[in-house]
Amino acid sequence: MTTQQIYKLAVSLGMRADLRGPAEVKKYLERVKNKYEKLDAAARAEFDADKLFNPYSDTRVLNDESKKQIKKIVAGIDIGGAELLVADKIGGVDLVISHHPDGPALADLAGVMDLQSQVLAMYGVPINIAESVIKPRISEVSRSTSPANHNRTTDIAKILKMDYMCTHTVADNLGARFLFDLFERKEKELEYVEDILALLKSIPEYQEGARRKAGPVLFSGSPENHCGKIVVTEFTGGTSGSKEIYEKMSHYGIGTVIGMHMGEEHRKEAEKYHINVVVAGHMASDSLGMNLFLDELEKEGIEVVPLSGLIRVKRFKK
Ligand SMILES: [Fe+2]
Repeated sequence: MTTQQIYKLAVSLGMRADLRGPAEVKKYLERVKNKYEKLDAAARAEFDADKLFNPYSDTRVLNDESKKQIKKIVAGIDIGGAELLVADKIGGVDLVISHHPDGPALADLAGVMDLQSQVLAMYGVPINIAESVIKPRISEVSRSTSPANHNRTTDIAKILKMDYMCTHTVADNLGARFLFDLFERKEKELEYVEDILALLKSIPEYQEGARRKAGPVLFSGSPENHCGKIVVTEFTGGTSGSKEIYEKMSHYGIGTVIGMHMGEEHRKEAEKYHINVVVAGHMASDSLGMNLFLDELEKEGIEVVPLSGLIRVKRFKK
């Protein structure tokens, strides 16, 4: 496979796993295309053409040296100059894949956050409410990522002539879909919040996360609380949403939120509105999604060297 083929595979896997469903994602892409066709020449020249087939602004190829065949990759949760130098030192590495976005994919992280309002709508929060709550937060994230030195690591990849890409929301979608399907299958067995914690701890990434003192924990509520309606709303869609959403969630019948991580202000709001919050653990959750993607590459005969917090678990047999 080439880097471009790996990128296209990542996008298609992310779209297939997307909690909104393939039809909604297709509609989203058609809307982008229609808008693009109405642009004038100057606006078209500035347009990021990847948006026509890739609905995830935080997933991009950041450096491509046009290598014929990718045989060995290094994959990590965060890639910086140190990880690129390690990849270079290992030898024979053709491509480095970061989970967290970098370069233009970091600058445009807020571009995937729309997904959150549609996922909330799927769980019963009216779309108009979900959208108006999330919109100010999207602007906030867009402003907060704007001053970063986005291309710092990408520049090192270019000097080292190392292919480099990031797969953020596509991997988070795979992790979210994995948990969504699991919670659906086990719905009848999940009565109390402690049942959710036990179920998460049956997953190898979370077992290892727990050994590293960063496994699933309860941020709000009690293990003896009834779960109520369980939602996987804080697992994909760029970054944390709006803290105003917990009031709406409690109003529209949501009982327990499963998330990767949660800040203190959000936690306080969730507690105030009686929402149980199970934080599954950031690195373990990011690893789950990346693993589901990396398995597909290993199936193609590509060797994967994990680093930077990635808890590598394989779910296929050769
Ligand atoms: Fe993450």
